[in-house]
Amino acid sequence: MGKGFFLSKPLGVGCMILGAGAVATIIALSVVYSQEKAKNDNQVLPTDGGTTTKPPSNEPWDKYRLPKSLLPQQYNVTLWPRLLPDPTGLYIFTGETTVEFKCVEDTDLILIHSNKLNYTDSASLTSVDSGVKAPSIKSSFLQSETQYLVLQLDGKLVKDHMYQLYTKFTGELADDLGGFYRSEYYEDGVKKKAFPCFDEPAMKAVFHITLIHDIGTVALSNGEQKETSSVVIESQNVQKTAFGPTEKMSTYLLAFIVSDFAQINNTIDDVLIRIFARKPAIDAGQGQYALNKTGPILKFFEGYYSSKYPLPKSDQIALPDFNAGAMENWGLITYRETALLYDESFSSNSNKERIATIIAHELAHMWFGNLVTLRWWNDLWLNEGFASYVEYLGADNAEPDWNIKDLIVLNDVHRVFAVDALASSHPLSSKEEDIQRPAQISELFDAISYSKGASVLRMLSDFLTEGVFTQGLTSYLNTFAFGNAVYTDLWEHLQMAVDNNTATQLPDSVNDIMNTWVLQMGFPVVTIDTQTGGISQKHFLLDPDSTVTVESPFNYEWIVPIKWMKNGVIYPTIQWLKTKSDTVKEMKTSGPSDWVLANLNVLGYYRVNYDQGNWDRLLIALRDNHISIPGINRAQLLDDAFNLARAKIIPTVLALETTKYLTEERDYVPWKSALNNLDFFYLMFDRSEVYGPMQNYLMKQITPLFTYYKNMTSNWSTIPAGHMDQ
Ligand SMILES: *[C@@H]1O[C@H](CO)[C@@H](O)[C@H](O)[C@H]1NC(C)=O
Ligand SMILES: *[C@@H]1O[C@H](CO)[C@@H](O)[C@H](O)[C@H]1NC(C)=O
Ligand SMILES: *[C@@H]1O[C@H](CO)[C@@H](O)[C@H](O)[C@H]1NC(C)=O
Ligand SMILES: *[C@@H]1O[C@H](CO)[C@@H](O)[C@H](O)[C@H]1NC(C)=O
Ligand SMILES: *[C@@H]1O[C@H](CO)[C@@H](O)[C@H](O)[C@H]1NC(C)=O
Ligand SMILES: *[C@@H]1O[C@H](CO)[C@@H](O)[C@H](O)[C@H]1NC(C)=O
Ligand SMILES: *[C@@H]1O[C@H](CO)[C@@H](O)[C@H](O)[C@H]1NC(C)=O
Ligand SMILES: [Zn+2]
Repeated sequence: MGKGFFLSKPLGVGCMILGAGAVATIIALSVVYSQEKAKNDNQVLPTDGGTTTKPPSNEPWDKYRLPKSLLPQQYNVTLWPRLLPDPTGLYIFTGETTVEFKCVEDTDLILIHSNKLNYTDSASLTSVDSGVKAPSIKSSFLQSETQYLVLQLDGKLVKDHMYQLYTKFTGELADDLGGFYRSEYYEDGVKKKAFPCFDEPAMKAVFHITLIHDIGTVALSNGEQKETSSVVIESQNVQKTAFGPTEKMSTYLLAFIVSDFAQINNTIDDVLIRIFARKPAIDAGQGQYALNKTGPILKFFEGYYSSKYPLPKSDQIALPDFNAGAMENWGLITYRETALLYDESFSSNSNKERIATIIAHELAHMWFGNLVTLRWWNDLWLNEGFASYVEYLGADNAEPDWNIKDLIVLNDVHRVFAVDALASSHPLSSKEEDIQRPAQISELFDAISYSKGASVLRMLSDFLTEGVFTQGLTSYLNTFAFGNAVYTDLWEHLQMAVDNNTATQLPDSVNDIMNTWVLQMGFPVVTIDTQTGGISQKHFLLDPDSTVTVESPFNYEWIVPIKWMKNGVIYPTIQWLKTKSDTVKEMKTSGPSDWVLANLNVLGYYRVNYDQGNWDRLLIALRDNHISIPGINRAQLLDDAFNLARAKIIPTVLALETTKYLTEERDYVPWKSALNNLDFFYLMFDRSEVYGPMQNYLMKQITPLFTYYKNMTSNWSTIPAGHMDQ
């Protein structure tokens, strides 16, 4: 889901928007799963799934995972959301579906996900193969805890034969942003649930969707509209829109929307790009920025992945009510209005930045996540971490003057360091068997999955080099297209790319290196003693008194790539630290002003500490010629020093000394890092006697910055050209 947001996407979500404009986004299928999370919003939004009680028995329908006996091939789904309440005041939708599935193990039981759907006719089961007779349904019931419709048969479904199950149902179109929901803006709303299906990401199938909707509304889904006809059903004049078959895809990526929204469009290399929103928003030109940037970003990702965009169209729609920041439904991406709409006359520069990065995040998922899908939710970190990393590449391509790639250090690396430095953190990767219930799936949508995932993948891409990384990625996408994979499949394809490129030298396999980052929580602080050239690593804990009770398979040691510089000159090869400590003679300094700086551009997921002498020389370098140190590393020196001080590894005075040079600093990233860290001091010293002196000191530090921008903006009357300056 969208970056920086928790997207909540109940499977089987549909949405009807009513009101002056009625839009309904219906995402079909069952449970509440993927939640995209908002970068600035660290909470999982409420979902309707999941309780903490244990299933009472060992029956197949009390297990959260589907049995392996049936594989869906295709679905025909017809949904009819009603925009007016029924006689009892309930907003409802009706639907019917036929699912064709293959039996891969004889069974007399069908389990299919269904949540809050009422069945109006009895289900019927037929055989597709002539000469094979389908058994009949002996009994059926709904198991609400595990969200199954359970059908018990009077005989066996036979291995290697195909069957069809037909059901007819009604559900409520509530306004809870889950399932098929009602979104009423102005005075209306939207609600949820969609249709019975085998609702697991590996149960990919082809979907033939048909929507029945009121005259004057437009129906959208993942596929192209094939035909729209006027029909009379139950003596109502309605429209029926049939969509072309989808590619083979996972249920959680389906979407259905009925609305009276307006759109703007263009076509780039035969791909139709459309932006939908409320008519007044479109009329005000608020979709234009998104439309301008989508084509170039899509093209950028085609190049990055070396893989053509697999669909004929890319729709993006801004919904007045939406649970997550955005959701990457294949070919029909849904956004909050603030994540897609930009108004030249009142939106801020950071609105624009958010829109460019979210669009890039969601478009990145069209391949990584949608074309190739992780087999189960335990690998969610790879899906979201990947999109959260490459969103910066896509946005950078769309806005090359912004230096937006630098922001990953503030927004992801430093942000997640704060969480991952706690003894209560958790590893990126979870075991498949540990993630069963909807609530457990929801919990995975956290900063570790998004921001740590992004940080370690950025590190990986850097030490492999981007060329090797993308070669392996392309090979992975080609191999698993329209199918599913696990995270080690990506490592295997990256390893093949490494083996193809003799210039890339690694100290261990991709798998062994990455395991130290994904199978244990936390990260190291690397300490460099420039008197001896000794380097060592230690698990960094923000609270030095906390105790780690979870054992790590690697004893809290990592295989650490170190890029570094001496006196502003970058050392040409990566120094690897594979053990607790080592000696690197080049890191020993000789001259009285020699300084060493490690973790260039914070490409590595770790903090760095030095001997006091080197810290002193770095402070002098900052004071005398701060631009000899890259801007990201100036931000790093501040953030590392303050956090090392909080962890009682270095004196607080040393951390405060890193703020002395700020009288010279004019760049956004280091200043933002300083402010993030000084906030803590503001909180701690508020109402104490040092508060006044602290304010005076900061006033002194920030005055040159203020004067600089005041002059640049002619006394605040003009807008600076640079994005970071703004
Ligand atoms: C499903 O829809 C397709 C396309 O409209 C049609 O060809 C096919 O016969 C339908 N299958 C069933 C079982 O209704
Ligand atoms: C489903 O059935 C329950 C119980 O009869 C009823 O309370 C609910 O309103 C029904 N929902 C719909 C959408 O018909
Ligand atoms: C694109 O927008 C124009 C109006 O600006 C409209 O006439 C046309 O039908 C749209 N094309 C598609 C394929 O939606
Ligand atoms: C979109 O692109 C057009 C044509 O390049 C340009 O005139 C317009 O200002 C752009 N709009 C926005 C909001 O970026
Ligand atoms: C490795 O090289 C071979 C031969 O050039 C190529 O076919 C293959 O796709 C490459 N594999 C990867 C993962 O880069
Ligand atoms: C103010 O800005 C102008 C150009 O905009 C520049 O030439 C001048 O040096 C600046 N003055 C100061 C004090 O920064
Ligand atoms: C800004 O205002 C001051 C007086 O407040 C004036 O001396 C100075 O010339 C102004 N600078 C610009 C660039 O307008
Ligand atoms: Zn995402």
